[in-house]
Amino acid sequence: MRDVNLVLIGPPGSGKGTQAARISARYGVPAISTGDILRAAVKAKSPLGRQVEAIMAAGDLVGDDLMIDLVRERLAAPDVTSGFILDGFPRTVVQADALDAMIDGCPLMALVLAVPEAEVARRLSSRRICAGCKTLYTGGTAYGSELELCSRCGGVLITRPDDNDVTIARRLLQYRQASEPVIGHYQARGLVVTVDGSRGVDDVSADVFTAIDGFRDGTGPVPPPSAG
Ligand code: AP5
Repeated sequence: MRDVNLVLIGPPGSGKGTQAARISARYGVPAISTGDILRAAVKAKSPLGRQVEAIMAAGDLVGDDLMIDLVRERLAAPDVTSGFILDGFPRTVVQADALDAMIDGCPLMALVLAVPEAEVARRLSSRRICAGCKTLYTGGTAYGSELELCSRCGGVLITRPDDNDVTIARRLLQYRQASEPVIGHYQARGLVVTVDGSRGVDDVSADVFTAIDGFRDGTGPVPPPSAG
């Protein structure tokens, strides 16, 4: 059985974080969100946080070298023993090349969440996050609610600073220009599975789990012989 070595690719708001949490719970591998790591650094006002705060607020991409060092360090942590879920990395072809070198031929699956731009814009402009337990809410949909407090822990619901119309448009542009080519990078290696992420969360998870099960037992995408 293969380790769950997974990269999640999709536009902002496609549900990468939502599905990463579910995959992590089901398969017992860590979900590594580069966005969450950077937001924690901003909150802590660390040197890294001060470096990236304005870039994130504008919806631009943090530099490749910084991101590659950050992920290399995270993948060396003791909890990454039998797989990883990368949410938000690689976001450029340069980052994808660097990840190839880091994993040195280990089997990898690239899972693409396909969601139309109008739907992701709708989700992001109404997304709220519990400041306590981090539960995600989307207003006005069956998934989520209009509650001002978290229905799980009673925490305050907050809006991410980059979930405003101007920054959402910029993030979508960055995705089209810099991140969509990453799909081609993995397609050329036969490693891509695409899931329709525009459906309900449970339906998306069902397809995601089927794809991962296929990858683990070897009936899903496999790396070409030249990859190791
Ligand atoms: P990051 O945190 O990675 O943000 P993102 O890619 O814009 O993705 P989001 O977190 O906004 O969305 P998601 O796809 O995780 O969707 P979610 O599950 O939350 O990055 C932020 C910034 O950090 C970047 O802009 C950049 O500056 C920097 N950065 C990070 N990584 C970088 C890198 N590698 N290189 C350079 N810079 C980097 O869901 C969204 C909403 O929809 C939620 O409200 C959720 O409840 C809802 N929802 C989810 N699924 C469904 C569904 N099926 N139906 C209905 N609603 C749903």
